[in-house]
Amino acid sequence: MFLTSNPQLNKNGELHHLLTIEGLPKEILRQILDTAESFVGVTQREVKKVPLLRGKAIFNLFFEPSTRTRTTFEIAAKRLSADVINLAINVSSTSKGESVLDTVANLAAMQADMFIVRHSQSGAPHLIARHVSEDIHVVNAGDGRHAHPTQGLLDMFTIRHYKKDFTKLKVAIVGDILHSRVARSQIHALTTLGVPELRVIGPQTLLPTNVDNLGVHVYHDMAKGLKDVDVVMMLRLQNERMQGSFLPSPQEFFKFYGLTAEKLALAKADAIVLHPGPMNRGVEIDSTVADGNQSVILPQVTFGIAIRMAVMSILAGN
Ligand code: CP
Repeated sequence: MFLTSNPQLNKNGELHHLLTIEGLPKEILRQILDTAESFVGVTQREVKKVPLLRGKAIFNLFFEPSTRTRTTFEIAAKRLSADVINLAINVSSTSKGESVLDTVANLAAMQADMFIVRHSQSGAPHLIARHVSEDIHVVNAGDGRHAHPTQGLLDMFTIRHYKKDFTKLKVAIVGDILHSRVARSQIHALTTLGVPELRVIGPQTLLPTNVDNLGVHVYHDMAKGLKDVDVVMMLRLQNERMQGSFLPSPQEFFKFYGLTAEKLALAKADAIVLHPGPMNRGVEIDSTVADGNQSVILPQVTFGIAIRMAVMSILAGN
């Protein structure tokens, strides 16, 4: 039984599940970033393995497509010496109508220690976390438009790697904030870690109502929003979550909100550019920027392995 009000924490205030960054104390975010730092060395060794999760069974449950998150969770778990089971959802019994909770109960009966869950429905990982026994951990790998905490954390790791001190930064998040679970996790992480100026830039139709209540400054004009920022965090247009028309056309979106070299020149000369992927080149970002020397998009992916090793090892130890 959990005695604290945050369902992610155990009675000692330690991380038991990772479901969202919202409400997590700064100390836990720092613990994850610092632990990931220690794993970067492991990922660069010839033998990229440590025995921390030997004998543990980790189930990847991806009910939605993924390239980066699913693969880096698998690599991370293997580098921690865990046994990894990737459930092929399309050929599992969910395709015969089995509920998510029944699927999870059956996998738990196979002595699962941890579930990594991606789902199109916001709240699915929380639901699973409420129904598993206390010795099982749940990690949200992206749910609907709600949260993608390990993406938010790997973005923080990337920013800290290149910029060192969160408390001196101007950061802009650009594009489809409304449908983005990544943006929500980034906003909670950046505000918790003390970024003094956080901007969101996008058309009114792609910004959540009352987004300024999250402690961000709202811009509709890239020229003003990008001025003098240290970090530019681009987002994908989440077409799969749009019902109805939010934009005149992708070409129109690119004209006003696509990141080109010309627009990036408005940011600080040493500004870095992040994108969680998958990228739509020519829609939210131009190839000259995506492949340019200010882009840290591929290092983000690499750092994702260390962040996911950190999250799984911390959970398993609590
Ligand atoms: N950033 C991200 O979640 O990418 P995938 O959908 O490929 O996992």
